[in-house]
Amino acid sequence: MTPPIKHYLQFADFRADEYAYLLARAALIKRKFKAYEKHHTLNDRTLAMIFEKASTRTRVSFEAGMYQLGGSVVHLTSEGSQLGRSEPIEDTARVISRMTDIVMIRTFEQARIERFAEFSRVPVINGLTNEYHPCQILADIFTFIEHRGPIAGKTVAWIGDGNNMANTWAQAAALLGFTLHVSTPRGYEVDSQLAALDGNGGDKTWRHFADPVAACAGADLVTTDVWTSMGYEAENEARKKAFASWCVDADMMAVARPDALFMHCLPAHRGEEVTAEVIDGPQSVVWDEAENRMHVQKALMEYLLLGRQAGEFA
Ligand code: CP
Ligand code: NVA
Repeated sequence: MTPPIKHYLQFADFRADEYAYLLARAALIKRKFKAYEKHHTLNDRTLAMIFEKASTRTRVSFEAGMYQLGGSVVHLTSEGSQLGRSEPIEDTARVISRMTDIVMIRTFEQARIERFAEFSRVPVINGLTNEYHPCQILADIFTFIEHRGPIAGKTVAWIGDGNNMANTWAQAAALLGFTLHVSTPRGYEVDSQLAALDGNGGDKTWRHFADPVAACAGADLVTTDVWTSMGYEAENEARKKAFASWCVDADMMAVARPDALFMHCLPAHRGEEVTAEVIDGPQSVVWDEAENRMHVQKALMEYLLLGRQAGEFA
């Protein structure tokens, strides 16, 4: 019997030991990339990328990454494909997965990517949904480890919207053993069910703070995101008012640990969720964070298609 296909639809889909493997493998892949060494483990494999929302980093990191692994890429958008003319997601999944080896989707509801995966013959990767952004958190954790060593036992402060990034950070904290402080305005809280590994809020390991400065106290990493995520644009004006005190600034960074890092998945709006002083300052690692999307996703695609690879990891 063929083993079930492995998908990556949310952070909770992998165990801690799989993350340990992936992070080590990504470090190896990054070193080889920097040394201009070929790493063609996915020769002749094809990645289909489906974007139902805009993207810069996800598009470039998956596309460049797949070519660097020796494979090729097909890029689809909803407007440019029959998805925009109401072809059912199940039929799209059946067709695309007969012609390609792996699929990355950026879409709206998590239920939509889950439905695609149900009808796909090949692994499916979540490139962002309304609920989760697992590839980004994988890159963020890789970046933290590069700069500061293991993340277990550390404290991450999430400041801003209780969105796809916040839910994914909460899942990662429960899986990888770090503490998550979350501060959101009233009405924009993290949904405990989405944030939990068990899907019913039963393993809640993060703590809510009404005051964003209190959430940053003693943090090893302070991180934030846009006040209005893609798909929520109609709420923009209301959100600008509600989030006014959730701008990561020098006062917030001052109560974090002196060696605290700042991260933002980007794109950023200087003067809204973060000041220019912080995002362009010495504690910010946002450019490494963006670059690392590519290295971790190369490890992820390789793992989903080939499983664990023996080899040098040191
Ligand atoms: N951080 C991130 O996913 O960026 P893009 O929207 O540009 O892909
Ligand atoms: N939370 C943001 C992340 C963008 C990469 C959004 O969903 O738009």
